[in-house]
Amino acid sequence: MKVLTFKTIEEIGAAAGKMFVDVVKANDKAVLGLATGATPVPTYDYMAQACRKGEVSFKNVTTFNLDEYCDLPKEHKNSYYTFMFENLFSKIDVDPANVNFLNGNAPDAQAESDRYAEAIEAAGGIDIQFLGIGRNGHIAFNEPADKFTNNAFKVHLTQSTIEANSIYFDDIPMPHYAMTMGIGSIMRAKKIVLVATGKAKAEAVRTMLSGDIDPHCPASILQAHPDCTVILDEDAASLL
Ligand code: F6R
Repeated sequence: MKVLTFKTIEEIGAAAGKMFVDVVKANDKAVLGLATGATPVPTYDYMAQACRKGEVSFKNVTTFNLDEYCDLPKEHKNSYYTFMFENLFSKIDVDPANVNFLNGNAPDAQAESDRYAEAIEAAGGIDIQFLGIGRNGHIAFNEPADKFTNNAFKVHLTQSTIEANSIYFDDIPMPHYAMTMGIGSIMRAKKIVLVATGKAKAEAVRTMLSGDIDPHCPASILQAHPDCTVILDEDAASLL
């Protein structure tokens, strides 16, 4: 794994954003794996700015998001669908027909998982995948567990994740279930960029980079990926 440390959030957004822009410049039909949460926002700002300046066009890209809450209408202000349109898709020239999400309200989670796996495969696989990391080492919503997962599945979120994300829910209680891409789906991406910022991520970053590959720190599997770049601020890197 390549580890890069920067001082400011803007530098981090530029470093990760440029990796996405470069992939799209090299292949305008690239397939992008995207995340939500606080971490990717500066990266999405960089991508939006590059598009606005005419440096890159996302017109022909296809996107797949990592996860979506269950039992939450797609149009709710806290759905990851809404997040992506507010923070990226409304600011770039992506074709809304080419953006893909797991359906957290699908009646049959296994059928939904199969549909997503087939769609990713039909698109040619993910060229570059953005990841954040949870305080407990989760990637997407793969929570610490006894074994690594493969394709998408319905997950019961851990207390740590519920505490971290419930600050965003001021009208209804945060859902306790989500549909998430599995570890196998993430590891099949050709290139991975994981970004972590802030002291609260320092322990998870240390375990990811220097612990054993262990499903109790799901992000540790990235040690086995052939092209994974980890981009940190000084706080997230403080225990290395
Ligand atoms: C979101 C996702 C999660 C987040 C992680 C960090 O799509 O997959 O794994 O990346 O929970 O969240 P933030 O960035 O809000 O600290």
